Amino acid sequence: MERSLSMELVRITEAAAIASSKWMGRGLKNEADDAATTAMRTVFDTIPMRGVVVIGEGELDEAPMLYIGEELGTGIGPEVDVAVDPLEGTNIVAAGGWNALAVLAIADRGNLLHAPDMFMDKIAVGPESVGKIDIDAPVIDNLRAVAKAKNKNIEDVVATLLDRERHHDIIRQIREAGARIKLITDGDVAGAINTAFDETGVDILFGRGGAPEGVIAAVGLKCLGGEIQGRLVPQNDEERKRCLDMGIDVDKVLKMDDLVKGDDAIFAATGVTDGELLRGVQLKGAFAESHSLVMRAKSGTVRFIEGRHSLQKKPNLVMNE
Ligand code: FBP
Repeated sequence: MERSLSMELVRITEAAAIASSKWMGRGLKNEADDAATTAMRTVFDTIPMRGVVVIGEGELDEAPMLYIGEELGTGIGPEVDVAVDPLEGTNIVAAGGWNALAVLAIADRGNLLHAPDMFMDKIAVGPESVGKIDIDAPVIDNLRAVAKAKNKNIEDVVATLLDRERHHDIIRQIREAGARIKLITDGDVAGAINTAFDETGVDILFGRGGAPEGVIAAVGLKCLGGEIQGRLVPQNDEERKRCLDMGIDVDKVLKMDDLVKGDDAIFAATGVTDGELLRGVQLKGAFAESHSLVMRAKSGTVRFIEGRHSLQKKPNLVMNE
């Protein structure tokens, strides 16, 4: 994969973030998602690659764009798997909350897990704690391991989780262990990635969220030298059958290399609303400002990119020059 592709990919998440940011706080999550999806799809057409969507907006019959199996790119360039979440945190944008992202990940063809759209149990940490966590271990053991790896007291460790009823038992165990908690309303891709950045103040992500988000987070953490473990949690026979048909063992703990093979992978994200790591899009009349993160696993390069985009030259907020 050409390393210059990273810089091309960030144009895609910038366009999606700017387009959906117009919907911040307007209570219309589908409109925010559609705006991000359309912008993302448009810019993909200009990117020199032969991509196939393996994680996207849905199956062909339910998503008009960025559906699973859709071919993306100019048709010239590397053959890659593409995982997209044009708007990670649709409810966040609708409510004007924290940590919504436009995000995508690519890897060499065949290297991303084609995760079905169902729940996944997850545990994720940054580089210091790699190899020290175990999704099957008690919560307290994982907290102790992270505290030791980061040379902290367990009281100083901060765990992040989606604020859901299904997490009440994990929350109770974290509290009993004496660690602290940061609940997030949505957006566990940001939750997982944040564990690898000290300034976000979170050390470990626990809990159940979307499986597609788990794969995208795995690419990000691979670039950052962190770790995520996951296990699919089918909710009914139909979902169990889907896993079977896809050859995925539902009992298996999915480790980094099961989620994303090899290290030729790129992760790009742009903040839609403000978050601990990335500021959201700022609309300033004549221009929009964006804050992005783009990373490449092979080189381990992590770039924060600030963009200023003329809204006079591109009034439709889609940078598809
Ligand atoms: P959307 O952007 O599709 O709304 O997903 C947001 C999200 O919070 C993900 O980050 C997370 O993995 C999943 O939803 C959790 O699912 P649920 O809201 O059903 O608990």
